[in-house]
Amino acid sequence: MGPTFITLEGPDGSGKSTQAALLAEKLTEMGLSVLLTREPGGTPVGRRLREILLNPDVQLSVMTEVLLMAADRAQHVQEVIKPALENNMVVVCDRYVDSSLAYQGFGLLGDVSQVKAINEAAVEGVWPDLTILLDVEPEVGLRRHRQAASAAGRPSCSGRAGGLDRIEQRDLEFHQRVRDGYHVLSTLYAQRFVVIDTTGLEIETVAQIVWEAVEQRFKGDNR
Ligand SMILES: Nc1ncnc2c1ncn2[C@@H]1O[C@H](COP(=O)(O)OP(=O)(O)OP(=O)(O)O)[C@@H](O)[C@H]1O
Ligand SMILES: [Mg+2]
Repeated sequence: MGPTFITLEGPDGSGKSTQAALLAEKLTEMGLSVLLTREPGGTPVGRRLREILLNPDVQLSVMTEVLLMAADRAQHVQEVIKPALENNMVVVCDRYVDSSLAYQGFGLLGDVSQVKAINEAAVEGVWPDLTILLDVEPEVGLRRHRQAASAAGRPSCSGRAGGLDRIEQRDLEFHQRVRDGYHVLSTLYAQRFVVIDTTGLEIETVAQIVWEAVEQRFKGDNR
């Protein structure tokens, strides 16, 4: 496997961070040079942007949110993703451009064209080779987060509403538009998307399906 860019996408609580870590571990075990990273916040500047973007006490206009997400991405591409790919690494990224298209595009604006144009400038031609869409109903994803919070003994209803960040706190209709938006993206970009319905599946089972998708996609690939 030569330089390869894999992104994990999906609604909140669909298992992106869990699966990104498991996938990176497996690729590393195979002797590949792997970079595991995430958005927003994959760079020092990005971590500051992430704090603004996700802090429930911050008020942002829709366009500010679109532009800050794109700014985080532009920095991430320049500073982290492009250099890693140039060094022949496999990059596994927890959320990328499709998150902006789904959340800010479909979720907030109801259309992706403007968000897409802005992000085309941000990514400078660095589009994923493979995008794994972990699908789940928004209610189920939210419940997973709540269960994890209570299992860890964290109060699930103090401070931030239910411990949710600024974007997670939006209503169910928003999250439904995001989920439906991801499905539209998976047909628009069918070549790079693999959709996995994670409903009722154990983490290990999803990991196995993710792995099969990666193997299938890069089978016989000697880039
Ligand atoms: N298939 C699964 N079944 C049940 N629970 C799961 C599954 N996958 C992940 N989880 C649990 O659900 C919670 C959310 O998972 P994770 O943080 O990986 O989701 P995420 O997509 O990264 O969420 P976010 O969008 O909020 O970053 C975690 O506690 C995780 O252990
Ligand atoms: Mg996550």
